[in-house]
Amino acid sequence: MKKIEKTPKNITWDMSSAEKGEYDDFMLKEIYEQPKAIRETIGARVAKGQKVVLDELDFTKEYLQSVDRIYIVACGTAMHAGLTVRKILEGFCKIQTEIDIASEFRYRDPLVTKNSLCIFISQSGETADTIAALKLAKSKGAKTIAISNVIGSSITNEADYSLYTHAGPEIAVASTKAYTSQIVLLAILGIYFAEVLGVAEKEVEKLKEELLSVPTKIEEILKDTSKIKKFALNMSKETNAFYIGRGIDSSVAMEGALKLKEISYIHSESYSAGELKHGAIALIENGVTVVGIMTDPDLTHKTISNLQEVITRGAKTFIVTNQDLENVTFDEVIRIAPISPYISPVLSVIPLQLLAYYISKEKGLDVDKPRNLAKSVTVE
Ligand code: G6P
Repeated sequence: MKKIEKTPKNITWDMSSAEKGEYDDFMLKEIYEQPKAIRETIGARVAKGQKVVLDELDFTKEYLQSVDRIYIVACGTAMHAGLTVRKILEGFCKIQTEIDIASEFRYRDPLVTKNSLCIFISQSGETADTIAALKLAKSKGAKTIAISNVIGSSITNEADYSLYTHAGPEIAVASTKAYTSQIVLLAILGIYFAEVLGVAEKEVEKLKEELLSVPTKIEEILKDTSKIKKFALNMSKETNAFYIGRGIDSSVAMEGALKLKEISYIHSESYSAGELKHGAIALIENGVTVVGIMTDPDLTHKTISNLQEVITRGAKTFIVTNQDLENVTFDEVIRIAPISPYISPVLSVIPLQLLAYYISKEKGLDVDKPRNLAKSVTVE
């Protein structure tokens, strides 16, 4: 018999983190836990005026300069989190970055080489397609990093390096705090790469300060949710909704639309705002809800003009923004604090999570256990 040596791993989760406490549902509890979860993700990794500390990694400038491409691979919400870091990796680090769905990546014979760096994101660390994608990347000789919330999960056992989000247990099927903590950890990773490469010093320093401000800014949004709740009551009668944004806002549109369909069973689609006129605008008619997200000053005026096109066709608009709206009138505007468009989904997603939550409650659905869905998809 072969003896296997294993090092024990400590998990700091306590019983209360697996109970609803004062909340009606785990999802609501987990939405409200986001400031705490993100403080845990940041932990001692980021401090003002100091280089990011990621003891788990030992990358050199020479190694990062030799990376031909970064692949970020995941499923569902974790894939949406992956989309957010491309702006840092390409904009600051100048490393070409591809984000892929695990079930596509594993079957498309990707051009992964031994100079590729492949990052796999999975809250549970047990998603079958993500594990298979990781094994494929390893078989092609790439270096692999796992990002997970669960200590000792399968992807962390398989990968060369593991980084944990430390968001605490996420029980509701619809992911909330895992998503925002993944975005924060990916941004920290991107900053680490930029610092090792010695690039974009000023921008990176500013981004660190912005990251440290995120938990307080989420608390601000959570203080008064009445406008979101009110809009949700009307929207609960709808059968279709569209979510639009540009750049990083288009990735949060994807996550917002996913939250809505997962727990409210309302058909929802996300579009990069510029793509609307290539098809979806045909579906806009009187009373259809269009959710617009605008956090990037370079792109806001473009999205506003797309929103004007849907308003002309009778759409109802729900806007999440921290931008100047140029005197256009929308049905509801949820203002979030100013934040760098490199990480803005950590704030802009909060009203979208709450919108889906309140609609699901209004419809009397099981928020935590939506039909046909599983928290962790361990089969193909
Ligand atoms: C399921 C869950 C989603 C999750 C996805 C990926 O579909 O319902 O909430 O985003 O799996 O899960 P993972 O654990 O790999 O992040």
